[in-house]
Amino acid sequence: MLINGMRWYDTDNNEIHAHGGFMLEYGDYYYWYGENRTDNNFVSCYRTKDFKDWEFCNNVLTSSSPVKKINETNDLLLKRSEESFDPSVERLGFLRWDGEGNIISNIERPKVVYNEKTKKFVMWMHYENGHDYDAARCAVATCDTPDGDFVYHGSFRPHGNESRDCTLHKFNGKMYFIAACNANLDLIAYELTEDYLDVTENKMIMFPGEKREAPAFFNKDGEVFVLTSGCTGWRPNQCKFSKSNDMTEWEKLQKIGDEVTYRSQPAFVFHSKKNNKYYYFGDRWGNSSAEYFASTYVIFEIIFDKNNIPQLLYCENASVPK
Ligand code: DGJ
Repeated sequence: MLINGMRWYDTDNNEIHAHGGFMLEYGDYYYWYGENRTDNNFVSCYRTKDFKDWEFCNNVLTSSSPVKKINETNDLLLKRSEESFDPSVERLGFLRWDGEGNIISNIERPKVVYNEKTKKFVMWMHYENGHDYDAARCAVATCDTPDGDFVYHGSFRPHGNESRDCTLHKFNGKMYFIAACNANLDLIAYELTEDYLDVTENKMIMFPGEKREAPAFFNKDGEVFVLTSGCTGWRPNQCKFSKSNDMTEWEKLQKIGDEVTYRSQPAFVFHSKKNNKYYYFGDRWGNSSAEYFASTYVIFEIIFDKNNIPQLLYCENASVPK
């Protein structure tokens, strides 16, 4: 049984590292991707058929991943020598070394989707240089299989915008990359190109000035919903939701869950096609970057009233999807 906020283990009895994650249904499995900050890992992948037994698949992105430029302006670096940073700049991020004197990047909130046309698994993520929190870039990687070694295609700022907490979501046949920008004041949804490797010109600002992070989207009854947290670093705060018919016009944000979202922050929402239920997957972070490794997970079912207003169904045990 999975208890919310306790450590969860894979079938080899190793702790699951999949923070700020995402879930992809492919073939007979559900693949769970998320942040892993052990050693030189960035993103790990686990899979399950029943949401109880989680099999470790691979560290799909590490600081030694293969790299390939797909866009001249993308920056392929995943590690840098310590000397390349200005020592007078305060190191706000979570400093990581690779054991060879290099500072390695921070990758946050990795999300993976499958592109039917190119037959590629495409990962988008938030990239920071590992020294501070100012790079504010997104990055892209691809793979031919869901759990193989992803090829890193580099980081960039979409349309020159800062890009921090992020996710991917498909609505009405279009794939969007959604990220916090403008010093986290706004969220922006960018429609992606057909191959999902870049943003198009079609973009919309969501909740201007509302300072929302950790966006997690789902579709229900023809509408698109988003859950988002406020901006308080690693400390939990009040989650809010909104919905839209078209990704452009969003209803006013309304509170969901208690004032600290039962001590969690959204990672993603999983819709089970088997029982047509919706599940909130959240991170219960350690209180600071130094306490990152104390971070755990929660799963709450999302229930809806007759007006389709969502509620998180708080429970001590994780509401494992059926
Ligand atoms: C809040 C974000 O949602 C997390 O993913 C992480 O970036 C922390 N901020 C860092 O302070």
